Amino acid sequence: MKGLVLSGGKGTRLYPLTYTSAKQLIPVANKPVLFRVIEAIRDANITDIGIVVGDTAEEIERAAGRGGRWGVNISYIHQEAPLGLAHAVKISEDFLGDERFVMFLGDNVIQGGISSLIAQFASSEYNSQVVLTRVDMPEQYGVAELDNEGRIVRLVEKPKEPPSDLALVGIYMFDHHIFEAVNSIAPSWRGELEITDAIQWLVEHDRSVYPYVHRGWWIDTGRPGDMLEANSLVLEELTPHIDGYVDRDSEVDSRVTIEKGAEIINSVVRGPAIIGEDTRLVNSYVGPFTSIYHHVLIENAEISRSIVLEHSQIRNLDQRIEDSLIGRHVIIHRSPIRPRAYKFTIGDHSHLGLLGNGR
Ligand code: G1P
Repeated sequence: MKGLVLSGGKGTRLYPLTYTSAKQLIPVANKPVLFRVIEAIRDANITDIGIVVGDTAEEIERAAGRGGRWGVNISYIHQEAPLGLAHAVKISEDFLGDERFVMFLGDNVIQGGISSLIAQFASSEYNSQVVLTRVDMPEQYGVAELDNEGRIVRLVEKPKEPPSDLALVGIYMFDHHIFEAVNSIAPSWRGELEITDAIQWLVEHDRSVYPYVHRGWWIDTGRPGDMLEANSLVLEELTPHIDGYVDRDSEVDSRVTIEKGAEIINSVVRGPAIIGEDTRLVNSYVGPFTSIYHHVLIENAEISRSIVLEHSQIRNLDQRIEDSLIGRHVIIHRSPIRPRAYKFTIGDHSHLGLLGNGR
């Protein structure tokens, strides 16, 4: 089998972080979501992986390279515009050939990996296997209607009146029949060739599509809140280890990972949390569900349930930071210079939540 990872898109809902970085490269528990996807495919013993890239091609290629570090071969397939998931399959036909393949959206995080799903599909006669999960707002996804025996009756993309609460997760398995489907469908109202329509085409043309219902968590990391949620869930499953330095005045509990070169000085870290390489915490508190990436300085400050990216500094704050997604090379500090006022240099589409006077 081969793997196809979709890693295009502008990530507008994650502005301003995605002005300067591809959304798939934002780390969750200190590892880019795209790398988690590649590892999930590698763990299913698939070594030929194609990544479909768009505007952020250069950055994705620089980060993932040819795949040597994971023991896989990565090829890049350029999509000239975000014309839909089925369009991505269409332009990948040369890479995929006649092999069965798994397609995985590069910004999705799923509990438990996909090895058993792949093994099940690899040894089956099905033409396709889709992964479904129950969601609260099915109208935001592709939705499946199943019959009493659990077989697919129909699939619809973002229906106004969803026939069920079973959403299509961004992981799909196909054999070569999918090429006929993607070449037969027309673009949807949003101008994209929808993979949901292509699978519906398979169903209508008597191809077998097996619906697997996933019961763990699954997150499509489109918005900042999703990133924080995915970060919390992945941190809970991390096996902690301490490679950095923790001084005798610090308190670090058993669910904390400290990466190499990190220093914890006179600070408290409550897990699940991860402190990245060469990051320094001084006289600070890092609370549960927090990931601090590499080369960060946190001094005289408190932070919890947040993600802080590389080379940022958080210093001398009176109030704790919570539920925050903080980019690269950001500086947040109490300004020593009068007037005592908020002083900002903030990019487009930034969000600031300030405290009022007890109101
Ligand atoms: C895409 C698919 C949709 C699926 C979703 C999963 O939606 O079209 O069927 O449920 O991914 O993340 P999009 O993210 O393009 O809106």
